[in-house]
Amino acid sequence: MVDKSNKVINALKETGFFKPRKIYDGGKVIVGIIILFALVAFPLLYNMGKAAKVPDPKVNTPEIQKLPEKERVCVEPKKYMTENHMKLLNDWRDWVVREGSRDYIGFTKKKYTMSLQNTCLECHSNYDNFCNECHKYAGITPYCWSCHVEKPEEWAAGKLKEEK
Ligand code: HEC
Ligand code: HEC
Ligand code: HEC
Repeated sequence: MVDKSNKVINALKETGFFKPRKIYDGGKVIVGIIILFALVAFPLLYNMGKAAKVPDPKVNTPEIQKLPEKERVCVEPKKYMTENHMKLLNDWRDWVVREGSRDYIGFTKKKYTMSLQNTCLECHSNYDNFCNECHKYAGITPYCWSCHVEKPEEWAAGKLKEEK
């Protein structure tokens, strides 16, 4: 790219913004400006792309698709689950471990077995595109998986690899 007629340089001179005493090579100056701009802008644009990617947890697993459309709900209403699933998991653990009870009645009166692997992760078998989709974004790594790893197999295998 060579600015033979020095149009750009002349235009810049007229603005008073750019007053070189002598132009050695207008083309090179312009190319330099473009490269400089690209260097400054690249990290900005690059990070903007990342920050804009809000988590999009997917609830289209085979187990959930199997449910009749009306019953495609969680054990508690969605809003409650989004905000309180960690508390619910703690309660489930306490009820199972301390009280030995395993039955849980959901908000639709449906009965569930309280189990992280066999209930939550039966429906949410897409750990990476569901649980981890949000957790990565929030920057947290629940410490549960070193013990709760039997199911589903692919998930467990991936998780074990990560933890090694
Ligand atoms: C040190 C090992 C260990 C860790 C870490 C651990 N658990 Fe557990 N958890 C257990 C054991 C053992 C039981 C009892 C299993 C049983 O009786 O079926 C249990 C039971 C549970 C239960 C009820 C029964 C079941 O099978 O799910 C829940 C829910 C649970 N844990 C959730 C969690 C969550 C959530 C985390 C992470 C925040 C976690 N646990 C971390 C060992 C662990
Ligand atoms: C019967 C299948 C099923 C089970 C079991 C189940 N879920 Fe869900 N879960 C769903 C469905 C379907 C949705 C989407 C609900 C909606 O859109 O109304 C959902 C939504 C959620 C959400 C909210 C997602 C969002 O986008 O904000 C969280 C968090 C969640 N589940 C966690 C859990 C945990 C933790 C357990 C175990 C305690 C569990 N789920 C058990 C089917 C299930
Ligand atoms: C809609 C986004 C979202 C989804 C989906 C989601 N989580 Fe979470 N989870 C969070 C956020 C955000 C936190 C941190 C909350 C806090 O620190 O107060 C969290 C915290 C937790 C914690 C407590 C961890 C700790 O160190 O305190 C556990 C356990 C947990 N999630 C398990 C799960 C499991 C299992 C699933 C999938 C079945 C799941 N979550 C799906 C957003 C989500």
